[in-house]
Amino acid sequence: MTTIQKSAPRPDTILFVLLYRAVRPHWRPLAVSLVLLAITAALNVVPPTLLQWAIDGPISTGDTADLWPITILYGGTAVAMFVIQYVYTYYLQKAGQRALSDMRTNLFGRIMEQDQAFFLKNPVGDLVMRLTSDIDTLSALLSTSAVTIVTETATLLVVIVVMFTVNWRLALLVIAILPVLVLVTRYFSARVRNSSTGERTALAKVSGYLNEQLQGVPVLQIFGAQRPSMDRFDNYNHGYRRALIALRRHSALFLMTQEVLAAVGLGMLLYGGGQGVLADWATMGMLVAFIQYADRAFQPVLRLSEQYNAVQIAFGAAERIERTLHEPRAIMPPHVPIAPTLPFRGDVVLEDIHFQYLADRPVLRGINIHIPAGQRVAIVGPTGAGKTSLIGLLARWYDPQRGRILLDGVDIKSLEPQALRSLVSVIPQDPITFAGDISFNISLYQQLVSADIRQAAGIANAAHFIERLPEQYHSLVTPNGANLSAGERQLLALARAIALQPHGILILDEATSSIDTTTEALVQEALERLFHGRTSIIIAHRLATVRSADRILLIQQGRVVEDGDHATLIAQNGLYATLYAHQLAD
Ligand SMILES: Nc1ncnc2c1ncn2[C@@H]1O[C@H](COP(=O)(O)OP(=O)(O)OP(=O)(O)O)[C@@H](O)[C@H]1O
Ligand SMILES: [Mg+2]
Repeated sequence: MTTIQKSAPRPDTILFVLLYRAVRPHWRPLAVSLVLLAITAALNVVPPTLLQWAIDGPISTGDTADLWPITILYGGTAVAMFVIQYVYTYYLQKAGQRALSDMRTNLFGRIMEQDQAFFLKNPVGDLVMRLTSDIDTLSALLSTSAVTIVTETATLLVVIVVMFTVNWRLALLVIAILPVLVLVTRYFSARVRNSSTGERTALAKVSGYLNEQLQGVPVLQIFGAQRPSMDRFDNYNHGYRRALIALRRHSALFLMTQEVLAAVGLGMLLYGGGQGVLADWATMGMLVAFIQYADRAFQPVLRLSEQYNAVQIAFGAAERIERTLHEPRAIMPPHVPIAPTLPFRGDVVLEDIHFQYLADRPVLRGINIHIPAGQRVAIVGPTGAGKTSLIGLLARWYDPQRGRILLDGVDIKSLEPQALRSLVSVIPQDPITFAGDISFNISLYQQLVSADIRQAAGIANAAHFIERLPEQYHSLVTPNGANLSAGERQLLALARAIALQPHGILILDEATSSIDTTTEALVQEALERLFHGRTSIIIAHRLATVRSADRILLIQQGRVVEDGDHATLIAQNGLYATLYAHQLAD
């Protein structure tokens, strides 16, 4: 905790604020359960008191008739505690689980609004952990730890007060051992906490490694790398085992010490209390009752110490959740947004654009392009030249460090992100598919009639492969589209773009690169017809794909080095002409 900066809020503050905000809307069931919790804590002292009455009253006087009511009360208390516990658990779960499910939805919503830079910084695996195991940690805290902390603290207080009221000398005997118990508990808690952190870190290493290696099994097999991969796994696995053993050893030692101390405490009570009964400052009934009180006083200390770790872990989870909830956005929406003038024409100006992902690693170095409305532009250039990056700036996934981008004369920074997205549609380099059937993958949550879906698939030339699938449009696509070929996934992505009819500028980033040349030519032709008159930008490596474009921009090392239509660039006899000659020769 020493690494936390002075200005940062303390972890307990973060946790309490987070939980407070989450449970506030559900305060009614929470209030009910807290009241019932307090009642249970108070009821805890009833059984020992009844025991004392029975022993000092009817049992010592031999009056069996009076024993009955006490016995019934004793049983009745047990039943009442059972019922109350059931009811408060119900209400607490109701409040807690609702609060956490709200938190999960809220967190998911925030993540959905984040920009690309955020997803680069936060791997999907981490985000999934945040939404599942971190929230589960808080759930455990609310359902188990909170109950324990509240009931046990209340019980401890009530028991102490009752003991001193009944017999202060016996009470002192019970209390004497508590400071030792607390000290020992604190000593061991620190140890258990450290080894529990070690165990979690080791487990995270094991699961992270498994995740990565299992995904790569085919590659590992091809290159015969299974053995070294297993050796490394063995390392992680051993680390995990050592951490687990350390944790178990500390926990076991802790538990045994606690029990020994509790036994010592009871022994002191028995000896001192026995003297008291003989010396007549205590009764037999009191002694028996105090043995139960002692038990009810030691238990809270032990249980509270167990919760200490749960609370520490929850601090970590709360901090991570809070950070994700309030992650500052790299792309800020404008304070005073300007509405795009309608109808949108699609005039694009890139003015002196400089961009880099990492400091001192420039990707785009001074790009100046004017694309008049309706022009069909192709962008070509070597791998890593900055083509996808340029598109990312147009769609405002990133902001350039210098320069500005105008759409119909309006700086894209002054448009609402929603408005910008409706003006610039990108079909990305790696097509994304979702688990669901083909129809769902095309319509993507929109209510489209099946005729429209089929029509879009037809235009994209995807219908051929879809109709060959066993269940056609109802065939399931596995996660990552693993049961489709790379080209089929691209056709599906194109069908989606056509079905959802994006408005404004259409950008294809290598969107047809895995499709065979004959089909690609058909798709190109269909797209040209469909998006006739609209500004479009097509990135492609296959130069045959871009030959017919109105204009071709050749990008190299972050600069536009050639600009013109096919014939002009061939006549210039520069890099484009060389690349084209190479591809023709292939
Ligand atoms: N998120 C990122 N962080 C850091 N560097 C990046 C990131 N994305 C891309 N780059 C780098 O920026 C440069 C341009 O990448 P970009 O994806 O724009 O190339 P490209 O022209 O689209 O290449 P390709 O033809 O292979 O798709 C590359 O050198 C790449 O390594
Ligand atoms: Mg690219």
